[in-house]
Order: sequence, then C-alpha cells, then structure tokens
Amino acid sequence: MRIGILTGGGDCPGLNAVIRAVVKRAVLKGHEVYGLKKGWRGLLNKDYEKLTLDSISGILHKGGTILGSSRTNVYKEENGEAVAKRSMEEMGLDALVAIGGEDTLGVASKLYKAGVNVVGVPKTIDNDLNATDYTFGFDTAVNIATEAIDRLHTTAESHNRVIVVEVMGRHAGWIALHSGIAGGADIILIPEKPFDIEEVCQSLKNRHARGKSFSIVCIAEGAKIKTEEATDKDGSFVLSSLKKDSFGHVALGGIGNIIAEEIEKRTGFETRATILGHIQRGGTPSAFDRVLGTRFGVFAADLVDKGEFGKMASLQGKDIVSVNIEDAVGVLKTVDDEIYEMATTFFG
Ligand code: F6P
Repeated sequence: MRIGILTGGGDCPGLNAVIRAVVKRAVLKGHEVYGLKKGWRGLLNKDYEKLTLDSISGILHKGGTILGSSRTNVYKEENGEAVAKRSMEEMGLDALVAIGGEDTLGVASKLYKAGVNVVGVPKTIDNDLNATDYTFGFDTAVNIATEAIDRLHTTAESHNRVIVVEVMGRHAGWIALHSGIAGGADIILIPEKPFDIEEVCQSLKNRHARGKSFSIVCIAEGAKIKTEEATDKDGSFVLSSLKKDSFGHVALGGIGNIIAEEIEKRTGFETRATILGHIQRGGTPSAFDRVLGTRFGVFAADLVDKGEFGKMASLQGKDIVSVNIEDAVGVLKTVDDEIYEMATTFFG
C-alpha cells in the first residue's frame, strides 16, 4: 500500500515519535509511506514527499513535526472533500494516517464516511480528546508547566507576591489541573468550573491571614469568570483578540493578566501574571510521550496493514486498543467533578 501521513492542528511534543513509528512499522510490512506537508493542506495541494527509514532517523527526541502543521479544514475549502479524494487518487495513495486532535480527526471521520481509508492517532497537549485515556503531548506540557510553577514559587515567596500562571487549555482544564496539583498551586481555575473572583480573592486573603506571604494561582486560558459584566452567554470574558482559525476557534490567551489585575485591586497583594503559552508545546517530548507516541504509531500502521479503517489508536488503561474515530470527536473529554473536588482540598 501507499500510505499518506499528516500532522494537523497545533503541534505537540511526540509527533515525530509517531511519524517515526508509523514509517518504520509500515516499511517493515512492505508498504510505502508519503508525508503530506502542513496537515490537510498537504493533501489538498498534493504537497508530499516519500518518507524512508533515512527520513525518520534521529527525530524521536525532537519536538515539533518534520511534516509541518496547519489548521486547514478540508470542509471549509471549496469542494474540499472532492479535492481531497481526487488528490488521494492522483498521488496514488491507498490510505491515510491522520495525527491530530478534535479538529483534524473530525475531518478524518468525515472523509472516512465519504469513502477514504483513514486511520487516526490522538494528539493534543490539552488531553481533551474523547475515547482515549491520554493523548501524547499532555505529559510533556504538564511537566513544563509544573517546572514553571516550581520556579514561580521561589520568586513569589521572595517578593511576597501572588503569581497567576496561565497555562493552555481551551475547553478543558487538564493541564491546569495536573500541573496545579503537581506544583502545589493554591488555586486552580479551569473552563469546566466558572469561578467567582470574589471567592478567589477571599481564599487568598484567608491564606495570607494564616501567615502565608505568597500564593500561586494556576489558571487555564479558557477559564471562565462569573461576572455581571460577562459578555459571553456561558459567563466568560470576551478577550481582546477575536481572530478565528478555520475551525472557528478564537485565539485565547490573556485571562491571566485580567485576573492578576483584579486580584491586586481586590486584595491589595502585589500580583504578577506569567503566561506560559507555546512554551508548553515546544521542545523535546517527555519519555512518557515518546513511548505513547511510538505505541500509537506502531498500532496505527498495523490498523492500516489490516485494512481496519475509520479507527483510531487509543490508550485504555495500559493497553492500546482501537476505537472508532467518530467516537473520539464531537464531545470533548473534560475534567470531572470528582478529581477537581479532590484538588480543592489544597486550595487557599
Ligand atoms: O489545541 C491545543 C492548543 O494548544 C490550545 O490549548 C490553544 O488554545 C491552542 O492550541 C493555541 O493554538 P495556536 O497555535 O493557534 O496559537
């Protein structure tokens, strides 16, 4: 078979581990693999190159993706589906491995229904994809955010400050929750739990009244504040940047600054904000993500080899199993009440 492989959406540590594993396994089974450049755009534009064992040598530990990525949405392009199918034919591709999150796999699911042979691999630092316990990239992002919180602790303590650290997490607060627990944040704010700014300030005041001279607030970029001036129907601030990508997502980032200003005003505690942003996505993947990416990649190549299309590699417990791509998209995996409630034990 001639197999196309692409990486779509935000890049993520571990993508190269997956590419390497798919190519190695597929080549060993007698297939040819072609890398499509910049996600779905590479398919539409027939921008591709053959991947050999040489092309994947030395990439396991590297961040980013050797194929490049984009947020191109096939279904937002004119005749996108027809163009994609024609491109497959013209490139002589029999199957595709799509590595991506909700958006990329959403396109994969639709293309499969339209008759394209697709297999999916779940990727996102946000860990918000359904039908898999973990996505690769999440562990690395959590480690980076945890190290940042550790570092912010010492400077916050030295200067008797509150430091608000904003981490990624558009719809789900997994990174904030895990890094906040691991880093010992004094408050964790996530999109799933709209918060009352006055309660946050009161909790900080109580902590300082107990003799603590500093605090760390860990907030997900998509966290929502309960406020009378709320401009969004679900109670969130509408932030300055309203630029949207082709999947309709607004560029987030900045709630940390707003909250820091509000905390300083309401408590009188000197407050600073740190926005980690794309630092969480860049650089070398953790050992866990290299292993998970490798297992996903090998499994995906085997799915193609067996002709099991419309499926996605998924981690369930300690096993990699196959699920329908369709089951992974549509509904996001958000933070459940139980684990958030556990985390509140350490608030204030
Ligand atoms: O989807 C992963 C993610 O990292 C989100 O947490 C974040 O909102 C978004 O990507 C940022 O993407 P961009 O690369 O478009 O700034």
